[in-house]
Amino acid sequence: MSTKKPKSISSHDQDVIHKPSKDFSAKARIPSMAAYRKLYKASIEKPEKFWAKEASELLWQKKWSKVLNWKAPNATWFDGGKLNVCENCVDRHAAGPRKNKAAIIWEGEPGDKRIITYGQLHKEVCRFANVLQKNGVKAKDRVLIYMPMVPEAVIAMLACARIGAVHTVVFGGFASEAIVDRLEDSGAHVVITADGGWRRGKVVPLKPVVDEALVKYQKVSHVIVLNRCGNEVAMTTDRDTWWHDEMVNVSAKHEAKAFDAEHPLFVLYTSGSTGKPKGILHTSGGYLTGVHTTCKYIFDMRDEDIYWCTADVGWITGHSYIVYGPLAMGATQVMYEGAPNFPDFGRFWKMIEEYGVTIFYTAPTAIRAFIKAGDSFPKAQDLSSLRLLGSVGEPINPEAWSWYHQKIGGGKCPIVDTWWQTETGAILISPLPGATPCKAGTATLPFFGIDAAILDDAGNECKAGQDGRLVIRKPWPSMARSIYGDKERYKKTYWSDYPGIYTAGDGARRHKDGNFWIIGRLDDVLNVSGHRLGTAEIESALVSHAAVAEAAVIGRPHEMKGQAVAAFVTLKGSFQESPELRKELIGHVGKVIGAIAKPDDLHFAIGLPKTRSGKIMRRLLKELVCHGTVTGNVTTLEDFTVIEALQKTIQQSVAHHQ
Ligand code: WTA
Repeated sequence: MSTKKPKSISSHDQDVIHKPSKDFSAKARIPSMAAYRKLYKASIEKPEKFWAKEASELLWQKKWSKVLNWKAPNATWFDGGKLNVCENCVDRHAAGPRKNKAAIIWEGEPGDKRIITYGQLHKEVCRFANVLQKNGVKAKDRVLIYMPMVPEAVIAMLACARIGAVHTVVFGGFASEAIVDRLEDSGAHVVITADGGWRRGKVVPLKPVVDEALVKYQKVSHVIVLNRCGNEVAMTTDRDTWWHDEMVNVSAKHEAKAFDAEHPLFVLYTSGSTGKPKGILHTSGGYLTGVHTTCKYIFDMRDEDIYWCTADVGWITGHSYIVYGPLAMGATQVMYEGAPNFPDFGRFWKMIEEYGVTIFYTAPTAIRAFIKAGDSFPKAQDLSSLRLLGSVGEPINPEAWSWYHQKIGGGKCPIVDTWWQTETGAILISPLPGATPCKAGTATLPFFGIDAAILDDAGNECKAGQDGRLVIRKPWPSMARSIYGDKERYKKTYWSDYPGIYTAGDGARRHKDGNFWIIGRLDDVLNVSGHRLGTAEIESALVSHAAVAEAAVIGRPHEMKGQAVAAFVTLKGSFQESPELRKELIGHVGKVIGAIAKPDDLHFAIGLPKTRSGKIMRRLLKELVCHGTVTGNVTTLEDFTVIEALQKTIQQSVAHHQ
């Protein structure tokens, strides 16, 4: 068990308890710890009763006959029930008093603005559902979406949900190989994309990346392309059509047919400890119940709120807390296309002032970048509309927490530090803003119905303060149902450490007060700027280059990104180390996976430290990079001279950078 301490905790920050204000609590759905404890106890004693009550706030075309069937690791929730997820997110609001309420207030990076009401969203989604059906897309077909942060990305996702098709959204920063992998694994034959998107004042081309992927994967019959930036793109006859051409010839009416509660809703790929990302499969009724319930209690979302989650729809946070959760709640939300620092670091704060944002949900890595940019940016804006702040994606270091609390929240907004994962679908550990006393750096307590615990290797519950593995001991509605097409891998990855118990892959400890402190990943997964990356994925990208014989990748602490990627490579005999080759290899990872995976450091090595059975000892590389030397147990190491040589290489590269 790792004994890492959360980074840079000053005892001062860590110990201050921030209680919600009386005013906030008085208006909150859960107004006190007593109310939390009472409902939590009931929800753990009778989870099915709790979740059934929450699920009944959604619109079901047919009510379920059984809340939960559970035979670990297989869960079905709300069996016999039928619903349409899109109808829940759009039609039921468009049909009532929210018809002319803004669903999405969107701003493009260049400054263009659009407001889409629930009534308008309904029409657009119906039209696009008709487009998909006209193009032969049927229930359960997979549709790959590769788009910038524009309302059409949301419309495309909802239209898939409406017709029962399964979307698989690929983050716009991924490269063509990543698209090929996801097309091959999901078997999608329709792709929805755009010519490009705006990022830091430039057009990031998307359609050309899709074209490159489709040379390798030829089973895609149709590509629908949104004209966002007007950059020149090639259109292949009989395969590619423009979004706007498709939309003019279809009706704005479309019946939302009901699907089974367990109908697949989406597959979202995420990194694990092997070279290939896993397609996490989520289904309909349970997932929607999870995201709706958490929006209701954790963000305490109200009709008057202006909510803004700065994630990208390409990640789970975008799926759950831009698309399905807030829209199921009938919320008004801000959506932004571009970079937080364009044209400068004041962009977010200007938008908060302009739209009167009340709930703001972002990532610690962004907060750290804002701290570095200086206080003058938030100071220049009136942020008094904010009432609640949220954090997600990685542990928030106390300095970032305090800055966020003071400079953005004006010392008055509770911060919900939300712990969850692609696999969990919805937030599982978080403060409730009107009830939970917060401390910088802890995600605090489990959400209703979530039986979270920390176990040691033998499966015993850890004592207060002792590090262990974070697990969930009871099923919950928004849990992943499988890894797409690979139930065995699903079982092995998440459910085999302890029988019948979900292992999250995170290390954590619980303090005497019951608060959960997340330490970080225990597996070979890195968290770079809140993005999940597998070390094996980056290694396999490196060895796909002609010059590379072997590669090992580790994470090292990084002030801004949380973790940085450090790579070690050995070269094939005919290749020579050179700064040019280093640059080329780093660029190669960018080409294969995407810029987010590019190694920050790349060391050439004459050999990698291995066990006698040939396993690379990444632990030693980590020690070398973090401490400059190896102190741990090296008895299993096959050849110690490798370590000595690496030590020199690292010292030289440090000297070179100074
Ligand atoms: C990490 C993102 C500490 C964790 C929603 C988890 C966090 C991984 C937090 C999932 C948090 C997420 N505090 N760590 N509040 N939130 N993590 O699948 O290591 O992209 O396992 O989902 O992010 O990343 P994913």
